Order: sequence, then structure tokens, then C-alpha cells
Amino acid sequence: MNTINRRPIGVFDSGVGGLTVVRALMERLPMENIVYFGDTARVPYGVKSRATIETFTAQIVDFLLQNEVKALVIACNTIAAVAGQRVRQMAGNMPVLDVITAGAETALAVTKTNRIGVIATNTTVNSNAYARAIHSHNPQTRVQSQACPLFVPLVEEGWLDHEVTRLTAREYLKPLLAEDIDTLVLGCTHYPLLKPLLREEAPGVTLVDSALTSAEATAQALAQNGLLHDNGGMQADYRFYVSDIPLRFQTIGERFLGRSLEQLEMVSLG
Ligand code: DGL
Repeated sequence: MNTINRRPIGVFDSGVGGLTVVRALMERLPMENIVYFGDTARVPYGVKSRATIETFTAQIVDFLLQNEVKALVIACNTIAAVAGQRVRQMAGNMPVLDVITAGAETALAVTKTNRIGVIATNTTVNSNAYARAIHSHNPQTRVQSQACPLFVPLVEEGWLDHEVTRLTAREYLKPLLAEDIDTLVLGCTHYPLLKPLLREEAPGVTLVDSALTSAEATAQALAQNGLLHDNGGMQADYRFYVSDIPLRFQTIGERFLGRSLEQLEMVSLG
């Protein structure tokens, strides 16, 4: 097998949330080695300007390229929304997958009424990236977006089934449900953890989990490019890099990853 196939997939996010994508990748592509970078020292990105996010993103991509990854997965919706172009320029011919492209395509595949709702951070909603991605395939689709800035801290607090989160969700979902959406894109790394609650608060609406759709898109891209790793049943190698290890990081990280978080190392960028 070509040695390039043995290289890891580089996955990155503004912080801990991208571990939802790593979790989906581990399940979908159990043979693949993964290097993760989470910018925990500078999170959240969802309220920062485009210029700042682009600068931080370039530093992360540099780091992952030095780690000789074979593909890049932008796990952070906010980065994908405003700096996806920059990542692709830096990556050259390497496959670059991102949560927005994958989520938009899946939403179009599952909607029956062409009324799609998107929930995301402020920066992602303001960028209009989901609507653009959806409209590039089907301009007739109605896309209603809603920023849900309170969800990130609520999820990190572990309030996944808490009355405060439920009331918050009810408030955020009101304008979307009023538009009669039949599909809702979870356009932020943290929101897949709210799926059970959102299912109850938006009955009959199909939820699109961009972590799962990105893992599927990654599997397809690796196959198309002849980059799949057949490791002969050996344990895959997972390495996690963060720019800070804040209090409770391990607990929160393991909640996102759904398993214990080992091989964790701190590196500073920039
Ligand atoms: N990872 C971000 C996203 O998916 C959420 C956290 C942040 O604001 O940095 O948009």
C-alpha cells in the first residue's frame, strides 16, 4: 500500500466541539488514523470577525500540514463558513471536506417540501454560507436561518436535557417552525448533542447532523482519491492537540467524543 494512505486525517475545530466529527469518523472509518486540533485557547470563534478566524485557521492548517495529513476535515461550521476558501488554497490537491458542504447536500437530499431550517452560531448565520451552499444546488429552496448562541455554553455545561435548554430551544425554534420547515440542519459542532431534545421540540422535522454527513463525505472522498487506509485490523492511532487544557476539558471532551480522551497534548500556535 502507498505510504500516503497510512497518513492521518487532519480534523480541526475552534475547540472541543469538533470531537463530535471525530466520533463520527471513528465509527464510519475505524481503520483511519486521526490527528485533531482544537483551538481551546481562543474558542469561541462563533462571535469573531472573518479576518481573525482566517488568521487562526491558517495557523491550524499549517500545523496539520506539518503533521503530514492526507486529507483535511473542517469540523467547525464557523471556520467552514468564513475560511473554507483559505483552507482549500493552503491544501493544494489534498481533499478538504467541510461540515457545511456535507450538511447542505444532505438537507437537500432529505427535504420533501424544500423548506430547510439552519441553526448555527452568529458568525455562521451572518455569513449566509449554508443558504449559499443550498441555493447553489437548488435556488428554489427556502432557507430560514437562526443563530442560537446560547446553545454552545449550555451544551458545554452538560445541560443536554435541562429545562433551561428546553425553553431556550423553544424560543429559537419558533421562527423556524412558523416557516413550516421539514428539515433542520444542526449547523454547529455542539448541536448534535442536543438531538434528543430538539427532536422533541421540533416533532416531524428531520434533523441533519453535520458530524455524520461529514464522516460519510470523508469516506467517499478518500475512496475516490484512492486514499483509504487498510490497516489490516491494527488499532488506529488517534492524537489530540489543543492550544489550552482548560478546567473540565477532559470531562467535556469525553462527552463529545463518547469515549476516553487519550494522547492529548498542548501546543501553542501563532
Ligand atoms: N465550533 C463552532 C461551530 O461549529 C462552535 C463553537 C465556537 O463558536 O467556536 O460553529
